[in-house]
Amino acid sequence: MGQEIMRVEGGRELKGEVSINGGKNAALAVIPIDVLAQMLRHVGAKVSFENNERRMVVDASGVDKYEAPEHLAKLIRGSAYFLGALLGRLGISKVPMPGGCAIGERKIDLHIKGFEALGAQVEDDGEVVFVESKQKLRGAEIFLDIASVGATVNIMLASVLADGLTQIVNAAKEPHIVDLANMLNGMGAYIRGAGTDIIRVRGVKKLHGCNYTIVPDQIETGTLMIAVAAARGDITIHGAIPAHMEALSAKLLEMGIRVFEGDDMIRVLSSGRHRAINVMTAPYPGFPTDLQQPISALLTLADGESEIDETMFDNRLRHIHELVKMGADAKVYGQIARIRGVDRLRGARVEATDLRAGAALVIAGLMAEGVTEISNVHYIDRGYEGLEKKLCALNANIRRVTI
Ligand code: EPU
Repeated sequence: MGQEIMRVEGGRELKGEVSINGGKNAALAVIPIDVLAQMLRHVGAKVSFENNERRMVVDASGVDKYEAPEHLAKLIRGSAYFLGALLGRLGISKVPMPGGCAIGERKIDLHIKGFEALGAQVEDDGEVVFVESKQKLRGAEIFLDIASVGATVNIMLASVLADGLTQIVNAAKEPHIVDLANMLNGMGAYIRGAGTDIIRVRGVKKLHGCNYTIVPDQIETGTLMIAVAAARGDITIHGAIPAHMEALSAKLLEMGIRVFEGDDMIRVLSSGRHRAINVMTAPYPGFPTDLQQPISALLTLADGESEIDETMFDNRLRHIHELVKMGADAKVYGQIARIRGVDRLRGARVEATDLRAGAALVIAGLMAEGVTEISNVHYIDRGYEGLEKKLCALNANIRRVTI
């Protein structure tokens, strides 16, 4: 079997209308998808898909195993959530170190600190994490040194059935944290304050099933907004939540790109050249690290010098070297990249080094003269459902080919 690549033809403006899917990171938090479906089955749940795969049905009544299988856990970051979920449910869990994109060290010490505060014992030998509580977990106050998304989710999952009150201080505030709290509350949990710095979880006796629709994916929305800003044109994105996009919208406006917001739609119009800007990533509502790579592709053609400061992950600028292969004038200094706008990018053979790097290269390909060939497209498929199909429906020309 040959290798699958994406071939992007540059220079076509985007136009038309597009709808947004449920969030990948929210789905991982509330109902793990694909690989996670297999992991759920492994621990004893029944999982099926309905409505053209848009609806996942999980019957967790038979969950009785506490170990996540290694070959699956290694594939995705979301497997870390089996630690909190199974600890909360069974009082014991064992998960090989979760996989995910190699964008930095990705420690889980804060997850562990949370489990221990709830009364569990944790063994972490660097390969497998084993968490067990001989007694029922009891609520505690947990301060997170970093507003970690993963730690906040895991502590919510572990504490939802604990005795008493848990307070997560300096909690992550991302929309999918609120989404998870809403879903758990729909299942009978008592969680208050999600979306603020302090989340309170009062343990309940048990959870029941519910129907839940996941929030639209703000990173997919943002990627499409940046794509039209880069390729130029006029697109309307339906099913988005403009309030979740404030950091990006503000930056696009600063560059001179026009952004219009409706109740659940965003229209982006882009023409001519744009101004250089500085971007510093930060936890929500700051500028999302997951859009740092896509926006740096856009900045390669801006007038002037832009500075990108990636504060969240220590190895998330590898795409810059690929952009340079396409003619970008950019340099990396540790976690900072300086990008000086050039007149044009040209198509080249480049490699997606991780999920959002892949999205950045697709965007660069839309801006470039000629054809860009992107290898390692499996990274892109980790986080986007048919990104190239959506872009093609907006007039792009992107094909998947096996070479
Ligand atoms: N951190 C620690 N200790 C911990 C936890 C985190 O030091 O115990 C550090 C990390 O090393 C990192 C920072 O805190 O430097 C932020 O990590 P966080 O825990 O918030 O990230 P995550 O839960 O590992 C999720 C998303 C990422 C997204 C980040 C930030 C999932 C499965 N992944 O990762 O998504 O970048 O939050 O918003 O939800 C992506 O979609 O491309 C992606 C990587």
